[in-house]
This record gives sequence, structure tokens and C-alpha cells, in this order.
Amino acid sequence: MFEIIRRDGLARIGKFTTKSGKTMETPALLPVVNPKIRTVEPRELYDRFGFRALITNSYIIRNTPKLKEEAQEKGLHELLDFPGVIMTDSGTFQSHMYGEVEVTNEEIVEFQKSIGTDIGTVLDIFTEPDWSHEKTKRSLETTLERTRQACDMKGDMMINGVVQGSVYTDLREYSASAMATMDVDVHPIGGVVPLMEQYRYAELVDVVMASKKGLNPSRPVHLFGCGHPMLLALATLMGCDLFDSASYALYARDDRLMDVTGTHRLQDMQSLDCNCPACRGISIEELRRMDKSKRSKLIAEHNLYQITEELATVRRYLREGRLWELAEIRCRSHPALLDGLRRLREYQDQMEFYDPISREGAVFYTGPESRNRPVYRRYLDRLGTRYVPPTRKAALFEDTQGKPYSRPYAEQFAKARRAGYTPIVVSPWGPVPAELDEMYPLAQSLFPSIPDAETETESERLTFLFMQKAGFETVIEGDKVPDDGTEEFDADKLRAKAVARYQFGNEAAEALFREPVELVTSRKTGKIRNVISDGEHVLSMRAGDGMYTLRMEGAKRIVSAVPAPHMRVAVSDDAVPFVSEGKNVFCQFVLSCDPEVRPMEEVIVTDKDDKPIATGRAFLIESEMRQMRKGMAVKVRSGSDDE
Ligand code: GUN
Ligand code: ZN
Repeated sequence: MFEIIRRDGLARIGKFTTKSGKTMETPALLPVVNPKIRTVEPRELYDRFGFRALITNSYIIRNTPKLKEEAQEKGLHELLDFPGVIMTDSGTFQSHMYGEVEVTNEEIVEFQKSIGTDIGTVLDIFTEPDWSHEKTKRSLETTLERTRQACDMKGDMMINGVVQGSVYTDLREYSASAMATMDVDVHPIGGVVPLMEQYRYAELVDVVMASKKGLNPSRPVHLFGCGHPMLLALATLMGCDLFDSASYALYARDDRLMDVTGTHRLQDMQSLDCNCPACRGISIEELRRMDKSKRSKLIAEHNLYQITEELATVRRYLREGRLWELAEIRCRSHPALLDGLRRLREYQDQMEFYDPISREGAVFYTGPESRNRPVYRRYLDRLGTRYVPPTRKAALFEDTQGKPYSRPYAEQFAKARRAGYTPIVVSPWGPVPAELDEMYPLAQSLFPSIPDAETETESERLTFLFMQKAGFETVIEGDKVPDDGTEEFDADKLRAKAVARYQFGNEAAEALFREPVELVTSRKTGKIRNVISDGEHVLSMRAGDGMYTLRMEGAKRIVSAVPAPHMRVAVSDDAVPFVSEGKNVFCQFVLSCDPEVRPMEEVIVTDKDDKPIATGRAFLIESEMRQMRKGMAVKVRSGSDDE
């Protein structure tokens, strides 16, 4: 069972519970334990490093008489002395490395069950990157058939249904969609080790994103063989929840040290300079002089500490809603990783579905690739479809870096409006009409004061396009605005309605702004607080992100004016009494949801007949609400009974 606790990008912090009731938090990495070598003892992995799950190889155990006997007698957990979650692999990787394996799918699944593994793996066929489309497709069918067989046999064991498909995005999506309909518990994405070994990260991004498209969001996704700290932020951002690493030990045997910037050969390093618990107090000379097995153990431990530290960092950034930033920073340490980051641009649409509508904290620009983030795309899309210019004349102002953009321009903007011009700032986001400038992400963003060439070209191009599309007839520079304007205007009201359009769409905004409209502003900051329309308090504006929370009266207006499913989450009858009292909506009770709803978006909870019963913020999107079996779908603010 898998539950999403926090999210950012496609990433999630999840709670995964095995059938035997062991729980673990994701994202998590499972160190690979070779049952014959045990570079670091499993008990140590648990106690000292804090790993709550590991992966080992059932094929090796089965082929080693002594281990086989002990595993079948005492069980795998006792054999390894590991109290956490144990995943086993099936021998597929051995067939990738050495050719054929001498075991059938049925035998290896049965064996994994017999030794008490928590999560077993199908004997999938490893699809190599250089295989033809046809060969890949043929082998996929076999893997799917074996997965069906494993699901029928699995009993109390959970099962890994491995997504294969070589580098073919259509086959990856096909394979993932087929897996999604089967009774598997975890979805590894397999066949990617050669891509990672060869630094083919752009293709890795293709493979992961295509697989994610087809998969069931209620199951954790494991990126098979990915365990390098430099990749964890990017892979988590793409929605991978589980990782495994054999390289911590394999690299150690070759005197190679890992960290978030890459892999470093001991012979090339000029100093150790590592403060991890394994290296602390040790000089590079001492490390070089150590005997081989002691050195390997120390380097393996160093590698493990790098992994645990980076995973902690990834989780922190994820919780803070800043994982894009971390992934961008990490991907700048190797040109091939930068290719991966750049390839993500192709998946902006796919990622936009999952991207929260606002977040705490600011959007930091780390370089031109930051524009690939869905937050840029969403702003421009909504500006294009939901913005209605109050006048036909525009006055363009330069970005002075002041935030909100209108603050340094208070006088000039008023003058422009008196002359009938709509003030628009040419910003790194593209054009920002003055009415929107306090709203997330515009005011909550930070760009370098020295723009790069791409930002300059893009913001000019986007502004030019917008001027045409929005239907401005006259466009002038801000400093050319005539002095003698006499038009009356109400800047607060223009802002109030523009934000409502942006957030809820034009039809809903019309219903929310039925005249007479009165705005309550903060005495301290002058900012809009409440919107009172026709005597009803319909909206409140949050100071932090300059966006609205929807009140029950406002929800009722939208429901009568705009047909379902707009902004709706419909729940079943048994949930109605609870939600009306202000309790949160859980996935099991959701009947339907507007597919346009994004995480953290304001929604209207209704009963099955479209009667509004509460307002709140969506935590999940439609496809997740439909498929998740557990967890919160809507954080309810107020139910109809509260008011
Ligand atoms: N370990 C690394 N890659 C793979 C894979 O594609 N399948 C299996 N079963 N194990 C792996
Ligand atoms: Zn170290």
C-alpha cells in the first residue's frame, strides 16, 4: 500500500507499507547486498546507516547450496540478519551480464516466496538499448506473460512488475500501461543500467517519462540500478520513489569514490577532504596505504554516506517545494546530466499536471534550463487564455528587479492608467500585466540582475506575441506615456478580478464579481483581503502567494454559473456528512474530479448531484484520486455546516 504525503514536480514523499506491515518512507534507496560477499553487513546498514530496506539476489542464493538451505530453513531475514524490508531480484541482471540463466520464472518466483522475501521480482527480460524495436516488442510480451503468471502465484509476497522497452518510448509506455492493469505492487523501470553506465541521461529521461505516463500512480516506482548520488535529485523529480545501489560496493573495490558531483578515482584525487563519518580524520595518504579489504570497506561506507546524505537533501528540497532547483544544481556537474535536464523540456506538458499551483518560498532561477519548469509554462498558458486586458493600449516597463513589479513604478503606473494604458512589465517570465504582479509565481521569484541572452530574447519574444494575441492596438514605452490623462480607474478592483480569472477561469470570475463589489483591504499593507460581492463574502486573498481561497458562498456561485466538472470534486454519499463538517476528503470516497485541477488548487467538493458541500485545496489530481487507494485527496477548509 502506498500513500502520498508530500509532493513536488512528479516527486512524492510516500509511505509504503508491505503486506507484513513493515513501513518505509520514500524516496528510499535499497543497498544491494551480495549474499556471498557482504561488503557492509546488513545489520550495519540498518543500525548505522539507517537503511530500512535492502535488495539482494534470490538467484545467487538459490544457486549456492549452503545459502539456499539456510534461507529456506530460517528465512531470508534471519539469513541476512536484517529486520527491515527485503526485496529480491530474480536473475534477470545475471542474464544481462552473462547470458542465459538456468531457472524458469515459475521456479524463481516460487523460490522467492519460500524464503520469505517481502518484495519479489519477476524473471523479466532485460531489454538492451541496442535492440531493434521488433525484438524489444517480442521480449516485452514474454515479460508481460511472466508478470501475469507471477501475480497469480504471489500469495503474501509483493511483486515487482518490471517496465522494459529499451529506448523506445512507445514500448515503454505500452509496457507500463500493461503493468498498470496487473496486480503488481511495485513498478521498477528496468533495462536502464547501460544507459547510466554510458552517461546517456537524455535517453534515461525519455525512458522514465514514457514509463511514468503509463504507470499506476498508486504504486511506487523503482529505478532499477540507479543509485548514484548525482542522479537522485533528477530521478526523484521525475517521480521515481525507490532506488538501489550496487555501485557503492563495486566502485569501492575499484577505489572509486562517489559524491553528488560524480565519481572520483582515488589515484587522481589530490586530497580526500571528506567529513563523512567513514573518512573523518583520515588523510588521502593513509587511505592509499590501507590494505585492500580495509580500504574497500571504508570507501564503500563513504559511498553509502554520500547516498544517505543526498537522499536526505532530496527529501528536504522536496518538502520545501524546491526540488527543481536541486535537480538543476546537480545536473550542472556533468554535461551529460545537463543533457538529461534539457531533455526534460520535452515533458513540460506532462509535468505541468503534477506541478502545484503555488508553494511556499520563492522560485529561484538557476539558469536557462529553469524555463523548462512547468511553472513558466502554466503562467504563459493562463495569461494567454484567461487574461482580459482592461484597455486596448499598453505601456511597457522594464523589469527593475523590484518585487512586486509595480512597487518601484507606483507613480508611473498610475499615470499610465490615467492615460488609458495598461502597464505591463517585460520580465523574465515574459509580459506581466500590473494586475497580476503580486500573485505566485511572479512576485515570489528571484532572477539574477544580469540577464542571460536567452532570458532577454525570450521575454521580448513572449511580450511581442502577447501584445498581438491580447489585442492591444497601441503599444508604447512606459516613459512615453502622456501626462495629461483623465481616465478613472480602480487598481485594486482590476487586480482582484484579474487574479480571479487567472485562478478560476473567466466564467467563474464573472459569477464571483457580480456587482456591487466591495473590497476589504488590509489597513497595514493596503493589500486586498476579502471580496464581497452583492453582500456575500465570496473570496479571501492570501498574503503569501497573492491567490484566493474560495469561500462557500463563492463556491455556490461557481456551481450555479459554470457546469460541472469545473473545479469540482464529487464524493460519495457516505462521505457527505463528514466532509460537510469540515473533514478532509480521502481517495476512497471520490466519485469524480475535474481533470483540469492541479495540486494545491482551490476546489469545490460536491455530492453526487453537484450540490456544493465544502471548499478546500486539492492535494491530488484526477488520475491519482481515481487510482490511489489510500490518502488525502482534498484538504477541506470549511464545510457547508460550518457557516
Ligand atoms: N537490475 C538492474 N536492471 C534490472 C532489470 O532490468 N531487471 C531486473 N529484474 N533487475 C535489474
Ligand atoms: Zn567520506
